[in-house]
Amino acid sequence: MGDPDPAAPSESESTSEPEPDPVNDRTRWNKKYRQPDTEFSLPEDPIPALEARIDTLPDGRALDVATGTGRNARFAAAHGYTVDAVDISDEALAQAQAAAKDDGVDTAIKWIRADIADYTFEPDRYDVITISYFAALELLPDIKEALAPGGVLIYEQHLRSSDEIEIGPGSDRYRFRSNDLLRACLDLTILSYGECRRENTMGELAVATLVGRNSAGGAQSYPRVDDGIQ
Ligand SMILES: C[S@@+](CC[C@H](N)C(=O)[O-])C[C@H]1O[C@@H](n2cnc3c(N)ncnc32)[C@H](O)[C@@H]1O
Repeated sequence: MGDPDPAAPSESESTSEPEPDPVNDRTRWNKKYRQPDTEFSLPEDPIPALEARIDTLPDGRALDVATGTGRNARFAAAHGYTVDAVDISDEALAQAQAAAKDDGVDTAIKWIRADIADYTFEPDRYDVITISYFAALELLPDIKEALAPGGVLIYEQHLRSSDEIEIGPGSDRYRFRSNDLLRACLDLTILSYGECRRENTMGELAVATLVGRNSAGGAQSYPRVDDGIQ
């Protein structure tokens, strides 16, 4: 589970692909976050789908899964949400908390150091859940259950691609196949789903982005969004 190397250019991976080890994952991610000289860095801005949709989302409580330096958590807190932000890395959370203090939103965020595979998701708890650049398809049943009625999941993750992609995991293991994310969320109302290439400050990436709501049935009320918003 998770990404071996978030936004950095591909790093070589063992071809034997050992199973992820939570202790090593914690150590490995701490090391990445403690080494500012490496090419690993995360953008400061929230993921575009969260930023574009923020005014259409239900107010209340948010969860940011694998928060990293907390860009989505801090953005949600700045927009009035009470946020739980979970990550396996102590160092990521320390950096996230420092950034949240600078932003004046720290008191709205609970920083939780945990391996998400062992995390207990409380059912019906969150009005918004964000996951960005973290592969957690197998945990989605529990994550979706944690959505309150009408709650919205916003999930963005690297895709496998035949294009020359500069950003993201070196191994396809942590990249979703086309429609993996969509298929895993068909029990939600899909407000948007897209697969595309996009440029960020570090290069080009291939991503799937899903916005899904915990609602069902016939006539629903849909958020009004501008043309082009994904
Ligand atoms: C690529 S970073 C993405 C961070 C953030 N979501 C963002 O988009 O800026 C992946 C994050 O997943 C965290 N992570 C990796 N394995 C994890 C696990 N098993 N449980 C919780 N967090 C994990 C890492 O510490 C890292 O912060």
